[in-house]
Amino acid sequence: MRLLPQKIAGADGLVGPPLDFISRRIYLAGVLCNTPQNMMAWLQDPQKFVPGNAMPNMNLSEEQSRNITAYLCTLKIMRFGRHGCR
Ligand code: HEM
Repeated sequence: MRLLPQKIAGADGLVGPPLDFISRRIYLAGVLCNTPQNMMAWLQDPQKFVPGNAMPNMNLSEEQSRNITAYLCTLKIMRFGRHGCR
């Protein structure tokens, strides 16, 4: 998982916010409810939701974004879909 720029144990970069507890976050990037569907959408096109933010469109396929989302779900306690906004 060294490709991840954010701070996950083992990743070095500091460009984006830490993702250690991302599955417990209510909002993604402050604007999207933290659901698996929204996580996939964010990963596929972060500029669509927060134009001009530093996270580039990485041209991820649906499968790639689903796999990354599944991994992020494993980071600490899962709260996807059970908290905050609906
Ligand atoms: C597979 C690679 C990546 C994953 C899984 C990922 C994941 C995420 C997630 C889940 C967020 C929302 C975090 C939050 O709400 O606190 C985020 C935000 C962000 N990411 Fe990434 N990211 C990736 C690649 C990148 C890259 C390559 C960059 C920049 C070089 C980057 C820069 C940022 C920045 C600056 C934000 C904050 C955006 C904002 O709040 O407006 N990310 N990323």
